Amino acid sequence: MIQKIRGTIDILPEEIPYYRFIENTARKVAEKYGFSEIRTPTFEATELFRRGVGNTTDVVQKEMYTFLDNDNRSITLRPEGTASVARALIEHGRCGDAMPIKLYYLINCFRYEAPQAGRSREFFQFGVEMFGAGNPAADATIISLGSSVIRELGIPNIALHINSIGCPACRPAYRDALVKYFSEYRNQLCESCKGRLKTNPLRLLDCKNESCAALAAGAPKILDYLCIECSDHFSKLQSYLDSMSVSYQINPAIVRGLDYYTRTVFEFIADGIGAQSTVCGGGRYDGLIAELGGPQLAGIGFAMGITRLILAIKQAGIKIPEEPKPLLYIASLGSAATQRALSIVEGLRGRGIYAECDLVGRSLKAQMKYADKIGAAYTLILGDNEIESGKAQLRSMSSSTQEEIPIDEIEKHLLG
Ligand code: HAM
Repeated sequence: MIQKIRGTIDILPEEIPYYRFIENTARKVAEKYGFSEIRTPTFEATELFRRGVGNTTDVVQKEMYTFLDNDNRSITLRPEGTASVARALIEHGRCGDAMPIKLYYLINCFRYEAPQAGRSREFFQFGVEMFGAGNPAADATIISLGSSVIRELGIPNIALHINSIGCPACRPAYRDALVKYFSEYRNQLCESCKGRLKTNPLRLLDCKNESCAALAAGAPKILDYLCIECSDHFSKLQSYLDSMSVSYQINPAIVRGLDYYTRTVFEFIADGIGAQSTVCGGGRYDGLIAELGGPQLAGIGFAMGITRLILAIKQAGIKIPEEPKPLLYIASLGSAATQRALSIVEGLRGRGIYAECDLVGRSLKAQMKYADKIGAAYTLILGDNEIESGKAQLRSMSSSTQEEIPIDEIEKHLLG
């Protein structure tokens, strides 16, 4: 038996309504904020993520699905969407368009991580990116878009954590302060953090290891090291969020796992869905477009993990919109009845109505059971006698009443 690859998921039909609910809600909200959809390839040149996401990040170092294609090019299945969207913008000469450029996407991503609840190797994101707006009003708008999606989904108990990680002007001094602080406790750090001390000291702040986390609590705080511009940006963001009634908490431990971030970073964290509780992560990345060979152009965005949102929706017992049910099911016995049934359901479908008829040749009893199972609103029973008389019983499944109608008038009866 060939089985799916570890860490991938089959989304069976009964799970699809959850995905549709989230995708439809996300699209609706994004479009209300003036975002247009973009679709980029599932795989890209490996170099894009090395340069975009950053060579020292866990994503690039350990988690990418990278392979050589038949032309010996190094290809990577996208681990995220931001670098691809930035590349597409540069490649299509869109960096001079009217600003801001506002884009959203619904994508699958691939990361070789240890699978657990809320973490898989292929997963799904809803993401938004805004380019050409360096003002903190843009940060506030992006964050408010994220919180609107969560509100519209009806998920309670999700907290917004915000932080600033400064810019290339002020971060080096903070980096040095962190290295100095953690170096004193080097032998209390986990093996990964010993490495991060050299490559990416900010990541020591969000290590889940108990001893590292205890040390991180006493580490120097980035907010004490911000330059005047970054500090001003962060305080304006807070007052804009206040005026938009978006509640948040400042959390200096939010540093994010990708290298492109500057200034604002944020996460929406859900209660009660286990260890993988960040349902949305994002931030500003004012250097990314230039890093990828484009002009200096500000950027900010986020991505939500759809599977994690589903866990939170289920955990909160939220009722999601039901999938459409057939208006009519025709139970038929005999080939003349089947022929008539096929022509009636086809006519109804032509008028935009969901209708079904028997395709299996089951007994009448089994057909009625099936009609009930698929939630048909009405059932029409057709046999040789009905075809001959031109009349049949139309049964309302909700009231269990039935009336005799001319078969020719079925559309009139159902659609008025
Ligand atoms: P990220 O934090 O790496 O950011 O991922 C965003 C979200 O994707 C996470 O908060 C989580 O909900 C979900 N996610 C990540 N990895 C997995 C996984 N293995 N299984 C299930 N869900 C996962 C980014 O990807 C950035 N591109 C976000 C961004 C956009 N920043 C600016 N613009």
